[in-house]
Amino acid sequence: MKRTNYCGQLNLDNLNEEVTLKGWVQKTRDLGPLLFVDLRDKTGISQLVFKKDDNEDLYLRSKELKSEYVIGITGKVSERESKNPDIPTGDIEVIVSELKVYDKAQTPPIYIKDGDNASEDLRLKYRYLDLRKHSMQETLKMRAEIVKAFRDFLYENDFVEVETPFLMKPTPEGARDYVVPSRVHPGSFYALPQSPQLYKQLLMIGGLDRYYQVAKCFRDEDLRANRQPEFTQVDLEMSFVDEEDVIEINEKLIQYIFKKVKNIDLQLPFPRLTYKEAMERFGSDKPDLRYGFEIQDISDLEAAIEFNLFNDAVAEGKKIKAINFNGLSSEYSRKQIDKLTKEVKGIGASGLLWFRYEDGEIKSSINKFLNPDFNEKLIERLKLEENDLALVIIDKEDKALDYMGSLRVMVANDHVEFKDDEYAITWINEFPMFEYNEEEDRYVAKHHPFTHPVDEDIELLESEPEKVRAKAYDIVINGDEMGGGSIRINNSDLQQRLFKALKLSEEDIERKFGFFVEALKYGTPPHGGLAFGLDRFVMTLLNKTNIKDVIAFPKTQSATDLMSQAPTKVEEAQLEELGLEFRD
Ligand code: AMO
Repeated sequence: MKRTNYCGQLNLDNLNEEVTLKGWVQKTRDLGPLLFVDLRDKTGISQLVFKKDDNEDLYLRSKELKSEYVIGITGKVSERESKNPDIPTGDIEVIVSELKVYDKAQTPPIYIKDGDNASEDLRLKYRYLDLRKHSMQETLKMRAEIVKAFRDFLYENDFVEVETPFLMKPTPEGARDYVVPSRVHPGSFYALPQSPQLYKQLLMIGGLDRYYQVAKCFRDEDLRANRQPEFTQVDLEMSFVDEEDVIEINEKLIQYIFKKVKNIDLQLPFPRLTYKEAMERFGSDKPDLRYGFEIQDISDLEAAIEFNLFNDAVAEGKKIKAINFNGLSSEYSRKQIDKLTKEVKGIGASGLLWFRYEDGEIKSSINKFLNPDFNEKLIERLKLEENDLALVIIDKEDKALDYMGSLRVMVANDHVEFKDDEYAITWINEFPMFEYNEEEDRYVAKHHPFTHPVDEDIELLESEPEKVRAKAYDIVINGDEMGGGSIRINNSDLQQRLFKALKLSEEDIERKFGFFVEALKYGTPPHGGLAFGLDRFVMTLLNKTNIKDVIAFPKTQSATDLMSQAPTKVEEAQLEELGLEFRD
């Protein structure tokens, strides 16, 4: 019995053909002398009919069929009497003349249908059943198409696909490593790559000129809706390039993929924001530009009002930041503003003040301090109009901007109607080279320590590291970081200076990166590149909000695989072989 057609592809053009289909029983309906079966494969569903009058023996066998039995049938395509306009094969049915049952199935723990209400945990535990759903099949198919589009473009543009090792020395990308103990070298460990960063730079030193890889990366970090402990990057690197070259080819690549996969024409070049501008206007280095709600500084208006909270804050060097959430006053009751206040306090803000512009007047949580002069200035500065709601946070500049950035997203998530296939793309560049890590009490690289500082800032490396900008750029789509990259240091002295600015001792540098610093000494071309987060890219293109929906076998928030129960304990003998012992 050889398959002639797929279930979802039959229509009136196949009328009277004899076909052989294979798949899973979606459901059966017993209508006395007729038994109907919906047969499902990866393409869709065909209705099968078993007729008692045609073949009693076959009919009796068909009555044994249950959901998720795996069967093959041969039969004749006929026109349905009552058609089903909801499915592509709704005009036809197959009158079965032969049936083979390949395997029986127990009643599945989840109903194989999109929109079933199975919990996420159950879906992940029985992922192989969840994958039978149409939406999962479509998603994985689209993911494969997106990967193919990446590959096609990069191959056409002379990039060479190279696989780099999984068992390697740690690369610092800011997360914890997954480590793998070595049996042959007891007490020594490999790290799984957080990214192929060092290897791709070594490939440039090795003369490859243009490299790419669809690379698995592993990071032991706190998980969120857009983060997985193992995820995929489309990673690329180029020699003899500057920032503009890398940005230009990646814009063309993104344009190519959107056209190929979604038939959307993107206009180039994409807008760019410096890190500073993005933080000041949107409170985020990955702003969602599908909506406005820009942050404004109203610290100077403090002079027009006698209100301690404002006056003292400014005297202490704090800032007063406001956003006009246009037209949303009527959407926010006192109770809802209380809820927002609780949320911003949850992330560290000390509070939230509100101003409404209603019936031509300002009303506020600080009503009794208001005066006409301040009101007028506020209306003018924030361009307040009827039914506008302005929310205000006071704090040190960085913190206030950060909280405002989160507030902007909270309000937008509640009140902006996002359309599918609406994409706001922007580059963010001129990132600071370093950020201060309070836990470690030292500067750490914001991107990674191989990033080239902006030329005119190099002299500040030792004296004012906080002012050094990096030749780094992120690509942001709809408020999510889709990818990031930089121009790299191609000189071992500068690389050493950078490590020293990070307070790494000579020994640390030698022990961790000695091989790499040495490699930089034998003639390194200027080079740079970028890595896309493939899972996030697929999510965005398919309008999904959870990264798990675009990965065949994802892990939970606590990095477990509910299906196989990984991670698990290993046998005592295995530990012994590795020279490991566990302390409780
Ligand atoms: P970066 O660390 O910014 O850069 O990573 C590049 C992109 O990978 C995606 N990403 C993730 N996706 C899912 N789960 C995660 N845990 C996760 N972490 C990161 C993001 C991010 O933009 N080697 C550099 C690239 C370079 O400099 O060329 C790097 O890895 O979309």
